[in-house]
Amino acid sequence: MRIILFTGKGGVGKTTAAAGTATAAALRGQRTLVLSTDAAHSLADAFGVPVGGDPNEVDHNLFVQQVDAQRRFERSWVDIQQYLLSVLDAAGVDPITAEELTVIPGAEEVMALLELRSHAVSGEWDVIVVDCAPTAETLRLLALPEALGWYMDRVFPMERRIVKALKPILTRAAGVPMPHDSVFDAIERLHRDLEEVHEILTGKDSSVRLVLTPETVVVAEARRSLTTLSLFGYRVDGVIANRVFPEAGSDAWRRQWVAAQSEVLAEVEQSFVDLPIWRSSYRPCEPVGVEELSAFAKAAYGEDDPLASPAGEGPMTIRRTKSGATLSMALPFVAKADVDLARHGDELVVTVGSYRRLLALPAALGKQKIAGARVDDGALQVRFKSTEDSE
Ligand SMILES: Nc1ncnc2c1ncn2[C@@H]1O[C@H](COP(=O)(O)OP(=O)(O)O)[C@@H](O)[C@H]1O
Ligand SMILES: [Mg+2]
Repeated sequence: MRIILFTGKGGVGKTTAAAGTATAAALRGQRTLVLSTDAAHSLADAFGVPVGGDPNEVDHNLFVQQVDAQRRFERSWVDIQQYLLSVLDAAGVDPITAEELTVIPGAEEVMALLELRSHAVSGEWDVIVVDCAPTAETLRLLALPEALGWYMDRVFPMERRIVKALKPILTRAAGVPMPHDSVFDAIERLHRDLEEVHEILTGKDSSVRLVLTPETVVVAEARRSLTTLSLFGYRVDGVIANRVFPEAGSDAWRRQWVAAQSEVLAEVEQSFVDLPIWRSSYRPCEPVGVEELSAFAKAAYGEDDPLASPAGEGPMTIRRTKSGATLSMALPFVAKADVDLARHGDELVVTVGSYRRLLALPAALGKQKIAGARVDDGALQVRFKSTEDSE
């Protein structure tokens, strides 16, 4: 099963590109689901049909769904919510509704990931296309499983023990109900589910495509996204340059736009040298409906297979060397000064700008010492040395 996510700055054509790619997949006989995790649900507009919280068949093999954070059919979430509600109730906060709890930070992202997971493991789909929210939210979404995993491994077991020990006292003193085991179980289940979705999304059949328009600020954001997505271990396998003005025609206004865009497009080519750049022209009308979307995809992908599996090894590799091992992490566009590297036990902490990844080192590396690090040709290389050699 192939999973393709689309992200980019607001308004560049993410939904159109996602819907177009899904349409192309369905035409190839693949049972396809296109799922929107963007709160500004526009898949309905792109297909020109109503789209709800359940997969809706819009064409042969083609299903469309908007993730609805208000629908909490996921068991884990219900348990956690019930606990939160009981706490709020005991604290005298009235009358808060379960609906309002879904606005707690991260809740929508969690719901979207859980929904994506359940579709991915259902075995029902050949292709899942995800129409993501604008870049920053998508990055938050994709960083979430690992961040939560860190909390779960370090803090959660301790909290669980403490709560257990203090429960009788706390319940009496504060009058606040302490979480039942079922709540902790639910959190653990949630953690497992999120870990699974992280595995699926960083696996070899998943990739992210960056959608951009030929404008300087948009391209700058796409470059930063590529860095951050690589940092978190996601594969980017292509760029869609959308709304490119066709060259034909000769009025001064158009000529100027074509010239300005071709300068930025040259920068796009230089920025994403290893990736296919699919160009899509500014069409005379909005690409709405299956037919238009299919034409959009045909024009953009040309002879390329829109479903081709991503090539290469992915953003992180570990190679054994004579004296130990080298961990290599793709970090396009960064200089050594932009990267901060720290080691905490068997964890590698990599910070690039405001993004930080806590990378659990594989057991084999956990016992080795860091012998050096450099940033070279768009990749961070960390050299590990077997401790037997140095001691
Ligand atoms: N190549 C194109 N030519 C003409 N209109 C386009 C093109 N790509 C997208 N649009 C239109 O631009 C608007 C924004 O596109 P959309 O895919 O919703 O962007 P996003 O999901 O990134 O916010 C929509 O009305 C869409 O129909
Ligand atoms: Mg959109």
